[in-house]
Amino acid sequence: MPITTCIFDAYGTLFDVAAAARLAAEEPGRETLAAVWPQLAEDWRRKQLEYSWLRAVTGDYCPFWEVTKDGLDWAMEHAGLEDPELRERLLALYWELPAYREVPMMLAQLKARGLTCAILSNGSPDMLDGAVDSAGVGEYLDARLSVEEVGIFKPASAVYDMVGARFGCTPDQVLFVSSNGWDAAGAAGCGFQTVWVNRAGLPMDRLAAKPQHVLPDLTTIPELI
Ligand code: LAC
Repeated sequence: MPITTCIFDAYGTLFDVAAAARLAAEEPGRETLAAVWPQLAEDWRRKQLEYSWLRAVTGDYCPFWEVTKDGLDWAMEHAGLEDPELRERLLALYWELPAYREVPMMLAQLKARGLTCAILSNGSPDMLDGAVDSAGVGEYLDARLSVEEVGIFKPASAVYDMVGARFGCTPDQVLFVSSNGWDAAGAAGCGFQTVWVNRAGLPMDRLAAKPQHVLPDLTTIPELI
C-alpha cells in the first residue's frame, strides 16, 4: 500500500535533546557545566529513557515530564552538580528545544505532497506543544499524539496502535521515523514501514524487528515516499 501517513518521534528525532545542556553551558557563569555538559546530556537522556521503560514494564505510568525531571536529578548528582538554579534553567530549556536544521523543509515537502504528518511521542501534550511552538513547525503537523492517551510509554504496542485509531490507516500505509533504534524496532514490529535516523553512527539494536531504512538525518525522508 502507498504511504499516506508520516509519523515522527519527537525527542532526538525532530527536536535536539542535547540542546538544553549545550545552550545552558554557553551562558555566562556556567563554567562548571561547560566542562561536563556532554556527559550530563547523555546521562539525562539515558536515565529518562530507562525510567520510561521500567515504568512501562511495571505498569507504573507517570507523565513524561516526571521521568524527565528524575533523569536530570540523577544526571546532576552523577556530575556532582548541586545547583537548584541550574536545574530550573535546564528544565526550562527542555520546553523550547530547537528542531534539527532540516526539519521545517522536510515537513513542508511532505505536506506539499498531501501526506498526513504527525508526532507520536512519550512527551506529555503540554511538553509537545512547547517544543512544536518554539520550533515553529506546528503548521506542518496534523496531530501531536501523546502516550498520555493510553497511559503507557513506548515501545508498548498500544502506543503505535494510536496511529491507526486516529487516522484510519493500516500499518503498511505508515512511514514511522525515529532516531531511537529501539523505537524504530518497536514500530517495525507493529507493521509500520520504518526509518531509523542514525545521526550518531551507532550499531543497529539487536531487537526482533528491524527498520527498513537507515538515514544519517531527515533530509531525504520525502524521497522515500
Ligand atoms: C519520544 C522519545 C522516545 O519522543 O524520544 O517519544
